[in-house]
Amino acid sequence: MLSLSKARHQTYELTAAQLEALDKIKTVIGPSGYITELDAMQPHVVDWRGIYKGRAELVVYPKTTQEVADIVKICARAMLPIVPQGGNTSMCGGSVPLDSSPSIVLCLSRMNRIRDFDKNNYTMTVEAGCILQKLQQIASESDRYFPLSLAAEGSCMIGGNLATNAGGTNVLRYGNARELVLGLEVVLPDGQILEGLHALRKDNTGYDLKHLFLGSEGTLGIITAAVLKLFPKPQGIYAAYCAVSSVSAAIELLNRARTESGDCVETFELISRLVMDLVLKHIPNSQDPLNQRYQHYVLLELVSTAEDSRELYNRFETILGKAMEDGLILDAALAQSEVQRQAFWSLRENATESQKIEGASIKHDISVPISVIPEFYETAWNAVLEVEPEARLIAFGHAGDGNLHFNVAEPELGKTEDFIDNWDKINEAVHRTVHKYGGSISAEHGIGQLKREELAHYKTETALQVMQKIKTALDPNSIMNPGKVI
Ligand code: FAD
Ligand code: MLT
Ligand code: ZN
Repeated sequence: MLSLSKARHQTYELTAAQLEALDKIKTVIGPSGYITELDAMQPHVVDWRGIYKGRAELVVYPKTTQEVADIVKICARAMLPIVPQGGNTSMCGGSVPLDSSPSIVLCLSRMNRIRDFDKNNYTMTVEAGCILQKLQQIASESDRYFPLSLAAEGSCMIGGNLATNAGGTNVLRYGNARELVLGLEVVLPDGQILEGLHALRKDNTGYDLKHLFLGSEGTLGIITAAVLKLFPKPQGIYAAYCAVSSVSAAIELLNRARTESGDCVETFELISRLVMDLVLKHIPNSQDPLNQRYQHYVLLELVSTAEDSRELYNRFETILGKAMEDGLILDAALAQSEVQRQAFWSLRENATESQKIEGASIKHDISVPISVIPEFYETAWNAVLEVEPEARLIAFGHAGDGNLHFNVAEPELGKTEDFIDNWDKINEAVHRTVHKYGGSISAEHGIGQLKREELAHYKTETALQVMQKIKTALDPNSIMNPGKVI
């Protein structure tokens, strides 16, 4: 075993085969297709939250599926691990290398072509490195709608979205990323290319293999392209920012809005008091749309694809008016312009950024059945207060599909050390409550490095064994994103 890496990393050594593989990869990809300088690699080896700081021998930017396949073949032969990477916005450390073993980062950013756009089939075939926001724009310019939407859409890439089965704000109406995919092209851990770019809504020919890779977080193969479903472009989008009297009232409002609008609810986001305070405190030009402070808010959006959607607007007003009469809503603002609608969204979408600026927070990306959200909310918060009586609750997110970001912020007095010492106990208090209500400890962000132990704790033995069998069958030498998920 050569100890070249010893000089740079005190923790691991590369084998001769791995060193040789690095040289072969550089030849395949060419000088403009990789970086090795430590500084230049920083954005690829530290995660968005700054929690995981890994190391890579090389960051490569392949331009074609064949280049990806050639690189994977070289790595497979040398047993050199690969970390597939999109926008590196993972919330659970899934997209950065470990610092305890050699690996390369394979970034898909240069594979960003639209291979096909079929308006009448309502599909587009795109490469993994396409930025999500770009895809939304391309669909809209052709009078179509690609509904996957999340606050990271300006930098996350569709390959990462599919690998994490991303959720976001439109799951209530369109489902998670996996429901938006018809076909997939994947490079397997042995370098073979799994061709599956079918643009069919029906195809019952054996196991639906794409679903193995959707949500696999880069541990079973590298997604290089996908056929995405498109929808008719919305003609009328109406947003309301409502102060609700309680979390229960919010769920009652959701039910009414769904039934009385003809199920035109596109978005239903819950926002707690502290989220509003942090956004107003840290995000310039943020404004509270209501003139009093309330404890709970809902950002509710109705959408119509019918030309004349004024009728929906009127129905929306009636729903809100009746909800106010019945005490579900304490106050509300119905956006009168696109600028105002965007301002509402900015309050919601800056929740994460403002938390990061405020300081340490223990994040929970949980889901429970929608009907038990109010009970979960109260029980989980009481369980947290038993651990840390002065903790502050930053609760927000996609209540419309049962997914809450139930984050716990350090006490205002800034006792960060004790707070961080209580990390595991606070985590356990929330996740124990989630489990009690039949929920999930990771609704949309995935497992990555952050939740591997908890996955092993909360998943059944049988489920873990089946996952391990699939992993061993496809990636027997564990070169695909080692140390993530299982
Ligand atoms: P990366 O972070 O680069 O990678 C994510 C995982 O996928 C890693 O395990 C990586 O190895 C793997 N991977 C990446 N590309 C490929 C590929 N081509 N083939 C195989 N594996 C691959 N997530 C939500 O679901 N909903 C939200 O509402 C949401 N909001 C967010 C808001 C902010 C401000 C931030 C920073 C993040 C948010 N996220 C959210 C988390 C994150 O944006 C998503 O998980 C997103 O799908 C990751 O995409 P990415 O391109 O950044 O992937
Ligand atoms: C969101 O909904 O904004 C994200 O999932 C990010 C977060 O959980 O902070
Ligand atoms: Zn979210």
